Amino acid sequence: MQRRLLQQVLSARRLSNLSIGPSLFTPSTHYSLRQSSQTPFLQQLENPNQPSSQISIDRSALFNPSEHSHEPSTDSELIKHLKGIIKFRGGPISIAEYMEEVLTNPKAGFYINRDVFGADGDFITSPEVSQMFGEMVGVWAMCLWEQMGQPDKVNLVELGPGRGTLMADLLRGASKFEKFTKSLHIHMVECSPTLQKLQRHNLRCADEDTNGSDVDQSIISNLAGTPVSWHATLEQVPSGLPTIIVGHEFYDALPVHQFQRASRGWCEKMVDVAEDSSFRLVLSLQPTPATLYLMKRCKWDATEEITKLDHIEVCPKAIELTHTIAKRISSDGGGALIIDYGLNGIVTDSLQAIRKHKFVDILDNPGSADLSAYVDFASIRHSAEEASVDVSVHGPITQSQFLGSLGINFRIEALLQNCTDEQAESLRAGYWQLVGDGEAPFWDGPDEKTPIGMGTRYMAMAIVNKKQGIPIPFQ
Ligand SMILES: C[S@@+](CC[C@H](N)C(=O)[O-])C[C@H]1O[C@@H](n2cnc3c(N)ncnc32)[C@H](O)[C@@H]1O
Repeated sequence: MQRRLLQQVLSARRLSNLSIGPSLFTPSTHYSLRQSSQTPFLQQLENPNQPSSQISIDRSALFNPSEHSHEPSTDSELIKHLKGIIKFRGGPISIAEYMEEVLTNPKAGFYINRDVFGADGDFITSPEVSQMFGEMVGVWAMCLWEQMGQPDKVNLVELGPGRGTLMADLLRGASKFEKFTKSLHIHMVECSPTLQKLQRHNLRCADEDTNGSDVDQSIISNLAGTPVSWHATLEQVPSGLPTIIVGHEFYDALPVHQFQRASRGWCEKMVDVAEDSSFRLVLSLQPTPATLYLMKRCKWDATEEITKLDHIEVCPKAIELTHTIAKRISSDGGGALIIDYGLNGIVTDSLQAIRKHKFVDILDNPGSADLSAYVDFASIRHSAEEASVDVSVHGPITQSQFLGSLGINFRIEALLQNCTDEQAESLRAGYWQLVGDGEAPFWDGPDEKTPIGMGTRYMAMAIVNKKQGIPIPFQ
């Protein structure tokens, strides 16, 4: 099953976790150290000659741990870490902080230590569904490179490349266009050491040890003889060359803040530890720092729309990333392609968790399920336009329109000319998943394997330097 299918089901389940009330911020299960109301400490300060034996400590409010037990704790390292942050912070953390820790904590984050993709993993993405996806993105990149005047040197950056399948298919598909492939230096922006290794393998790179933080180090991909480097962030990719950036299902992994309208106004949803030591959602009592982003986001939409809403999600990291992309493109030339699932407007309550292809509660066993949220494409547009007057923003258009205009129909016909029956079935199923809408009408295999089309749920948006004109196929 592809990601995000049962969104509506999950939101109902998540809300059952939400408790609202003034006592919600009481860190009742936390250590609490207070000075006595008899102020012995103050007395000592006023009278420094008083012997220290006179100091008394009121221990009544101290946390009393339960009897020491040898029962093994079932909490994972990540759960202990999250509870530790909440305990020592003395209160709940934002959903965004929770999401960031769950996905990318350097020791135990969901993406950090394993391959989460495919039938044996937790979810499947378009590049894994069909080689045609990466090939069509390659067609888009080549067209933009043409519009850029075929520069001799180009940085091709992929944000969050997963297994590296999209880039591998792009390079294989483009390998006949040597002038293009020879111009490329590939930069993979990836936080996971495990996925970096897998990407290196899938790009057929020589088996050398790279250090993701060393921006000058690169190795050659044998797929098209192109140098490849790895980086933890886009900022680390060297600037100064025309740049093409691709981000597929990267924005949806960026941490979101969730707000809910309450009688006292907009409150941020936060993650706390309940009496029984499980995680629970609570509402902030006061405005939180992320409220500034809520206000910024609301300014970009008509007030009447906002007044109808009870929930709003905002993603400051998406705004910051878009600023970085727009500034890079305005200074170096080129463009960016963002493909993701989402809305062309305010997103209300979309955060979801997927483990082993099934939706689960976002607070259940954090680190063992993927967390992702709808991408707010309107906010990407506003952020890019705010960052630079030299860039133009195009779309979003549906993935179906995007791939159709780039010629996926011709590509599947060519592939079907020369394949086995089994491959043909897989190609048709993959094609439908990429461009179709809902269940495939032609399917006569087992019901549970019916291909579900995601062609209208996923959208494509481009940000380009105005010098390049309007990118294909956004005219
Ligand atoms: C949903 S997966 C998408 C993978 C791939 N683009 C695909 O479509 O198959 C998100 C990817 O982004 C990476 N990632 C997530 N958050 C990141 C961050 N803050 N910095 C760098 N990489 C990140 C993950 O490790 C993973 O490779």
